[in-house]
Amino acid sequence: MKVRIFDTPEAVASALAERVADALAARPSLVLGLPTGRTPIAAYAELRRLHTAGRADFSRASTFNLDEFAGIPALHAGSFRAFMDRHLFGAVNLPPARIHFLDGAADDLDAECARYEAAIEAAGGLDLQMLGIGANGHIGFNEPGDELAARTHRVRLADTTRRDNAPLFGGDPANVPREALSMGMGTILKAAEIVLIATGERKAQCVERAIGGPVTTRLPASFLQLHPRVELYLDRAAASRLRP
Ligand code: F6R
Repeated sequence: MKVRIFDTPEAVASALAERVADALAARPSLVLGLPTGRTPIAAYAELRRLHTAGRADFSRASTFNLDEFAGIPALHAGSFRAFMDRHLFGAVNLPPARIHFLDGAADDLDAECARYEAAIEAAGGLDLQMLGIGANGHIGFNEPGDELAARTHRVRLADTTRRDNAPLFGGDPANVPREALSMGMGTILKAAEIVLIATGERKAQCVERAIGGPVTTRLPASFLQLHPRVELYLDRAAASRLRP
């Protein structure tokens, strides 16, 4: 894995946005995998800025978000779809037909997962997957456990993850759905290139274990060691446990 360490979270955000803008310039029909969460918010703001400055053209790009809560419609303010509309989609020239999302309100959630997996294949696969990382090492909603699902699937969310997402649901973890849909680790690892961002001391331990520890289902991010083209963009705090 290629590790790049930046002085501040802002520098991580701007490097990631530049990385995406460069990828769009090199391949205008880029198929981009996207995360939600607190960490990419600043990068999405930077991407909006680059778009306004004429440096990030999404007109031929496609996007696939990593995950979505189950049981709530896209229009729900707490949905990841609403998050993406707020932070990116509403302010760039991405054609709505090429924005792909898991439908957490689908009647048949297993069929919805299969549909999504097929849609990624039909788009030619993910060219560049952006990732965040949970403090417990989760990637997308692939939570630590005895096993990991390879393909897009339903997940039961860990209590820590529900707590982390409480701000989207009025601050109360009890309001966060218990289930979600997520790309699987195999779906993610099939992306041609992966860029993971992590900022803050809270991520230092899982970053250290993801890079230097064993590959284990107990730390889903450790599976990234198996991918040939992964870059990690870290601020100093997230990198603080890495040996120089
Ligand atoms: C959400 C996702 C999650 C987040 C992770 C970190 O789409 O993929 O795996 O990346 O929970 O979230 P933050 O950035 O809020 O620490």
